[in-house]
Amino acid sequence: MAALCLYVHGMNVPGARSHGQLSISASSAPRDLLTDRPSRAGAWTAKVITLFPETFPGVLAASLTGKALTEGLWNLETVDLRQFGAGKHRSVDDTPSGGGAGMVLRADVMGNAIRHACRETASPLAYLSPRGRRLDQRMVQRFSEGPGLVLISGRFEGLDQRVIDRFCIEEVSLGDFVMTGGEIAAQALIDAAVRLLPGVVGNAASIEGESFSNGLLEHPQYTRPASWEGCDIPDVLTSGDHQAVAKWRQQEAERLTRERRPDLWQAYSDKDP
Ligand SMILES: C[S@@+](CC[C@H](N)C(=O)[O-])C[C@H]1O[C@@H](n2cnc3c(N)ncnc32)[C@H](O)[C@@H]1O
Repeated sequence: MAALCLYVHGMNVPGARSHGQLSISASSAPRDLLTDRPSRAGAWTAKVITLFPETFPGVLAASLTGKALTEGLWNLETVDLRQFGAGKHRSVDDTPSGGGAGMVLRADVMGNAIRHACRETASPLAYLSPRGRRLDQRMVQRFSEGPGLVLISGRFEGLDQRVIDRFCIEEVSLGDFVMTGGEIAAQALIDAAVRLLPGVVGNAASIEGESFSNGLLEHPQYTRPASWEGCDIPDVLTSGDHQAVAKWRQQEAERLTRERRPDLWQAYSDKDP
């Protein structure tokens, strides 16, 4: 199986075209942020195979991720699965072998879409799936450090297992619940990875102290007004004593993690007894 994966990725690299510093990225879905935008050659790129390309960039067009997309700090492309559909009706699904409810995404259709999406990239392939490994900050960090991601967004009962096996696709879950499709999960994963890219979040320090970055949940946050409906901000936060503030935040982060996430607390204590 590993040889097949090497074949797929090896196939992608030699075909890669070099671009100038800025180029225009074509997409099968002609929406403003997906087309005619500056795309920095070598910038982290997310490609999403989906039956619903019109759902992208979706929430990724807003705020910091949207600004970074406009500025070419990362690229987004959709691959419309329907275009790879079989026959006159461009069929993408069929009934489950062995019977049962629902429909399954066809191996031949998805296989062709994957080969198309992977033709100019060595990025890892991931399939958003409730059966996958639960997404966490460490995975997000790993994905953000690579060249990008090719994501498969499922629908119906999911994807024919042979495609997952043949391409050695990593399955990634957003959590222990089932959604109707992978598009929201894909956007969540892309958002989390993009905000770790250099230059996307203006103040890099705001990423450093965040939940999970140091193995703890983040301390509680407050802002003005100092008094609201009879509730005051903890005195230490308005004391001007930076050391005391740092100590309070660390203690609160440890308390919250201990109370809410015994799994994280155990790992943190084992690492730093
Ligand atoms: C209705 S779900 C299929 C569920 C599948 N029959 C099962 O029981 O595991 C359709 C698609 O939604 C996406 N999806 C649903 N829940 C998800 C989750 N928790 N994390 C990531 N993707 C999810 C996947 O892409 C999946 O192929």
